[in-house]
Amino acid sequence: MAKAVLGIVGGSGIYDLPGLADVEEVRLASPWGEPSDALRIGRIGLTKVVFLSRHGRGHRLSPSDIDYRANIDVLKRADVTDLVSLTAVGSFREDLPPGTFVLVDQFVDRTHRRESSFFGRGCVAHVSMAHPVAPRLQERVAAAADAEGIAVTRGGTLVCIEGPQFSSRAESETYRGLGYAVIGMTAMPEAKLAREAEIAYASIAMVTDFDCWHPGHDHVSAAAVVAVMAANAERARRLVARVARDFPAEHEPCPAGSDRALDHAIMTAPAA
Ligand code: ADE
Repeated sequence: MAKAVLGIVGGSGIYDLPGLADVEEVRLASPWGEPSDALRIGRIGLTKVVFLSRHGRGHRLSPSDIDYRANIDVLKRADVTDLVSLTAVGSFREDLPPGTFVLVDQFVDRTHRRESSFFGRGCVAHVSMAHPVAPRLQERVAAAADAEGIAVTRGGTLVCIEGPQFSSRAESETYRGLGYAVIGMTAMPEAKLAREAEIAYASIAMVTDFDCWHPGHDHVSAAAVVAVMAANAERARRLVARVARDFPAEHEPCPAGSDRALDHAIMTAPAA
């Protein structure tokens, strides 16, 4: 098995990882486009960690403007085997108030203007997204949360919208009625592309608001999202640092097959 390299994608409010030692800032080029930022490659304990700020430092890129393919491509080039993604979300459940961390395990993709595959003309592939989150990696995040005394809720569906506007009340009530747990703007196509790149993926969805369905919270504002993220950033950093410190030296084979997703996915015949 390959040596484990842990990737961390930081979302809104998480633009660096202060616990990273021996940091080297590396700007890798990608044929797919412009990654959001330079990679910060270092180590936490004995684990090699590669950090990428999803919106870029200074939060320059809106969810629709992020080149998700370039981001996953450079993480793959940096040998990332396992990727933990941090993302701000709104909540559809009373029992998931702002400040809650949810280890989501399903995604519904409602984005519509993002490149969402490395495959297409010339080489066609269909990977399985039945189980988009790598169970062992999620287990490691849950164990790290336990070890740090950080409460997390396990399981739940994240609906990813295009944005950048927040949802209307009708949309919010529809998603809530469909049983989704949380809503965000960046998990997709990131999770799909990680699967195509055979990188194990897990997501820590950090609840910042109740979207706009809640009778006690008329609407969500960017300022509220930023304030809650700022209040929770330290906890999130502590959590991923613990995941890294306790990470195994070798990548663990994924029961959901995320690390060999292309084994039976490619339809195109090899060139003669
Ligand atoms: N990110 C944080 N809160 C959100 C919300 N309510 N809708 C979409 N993305 C979000």
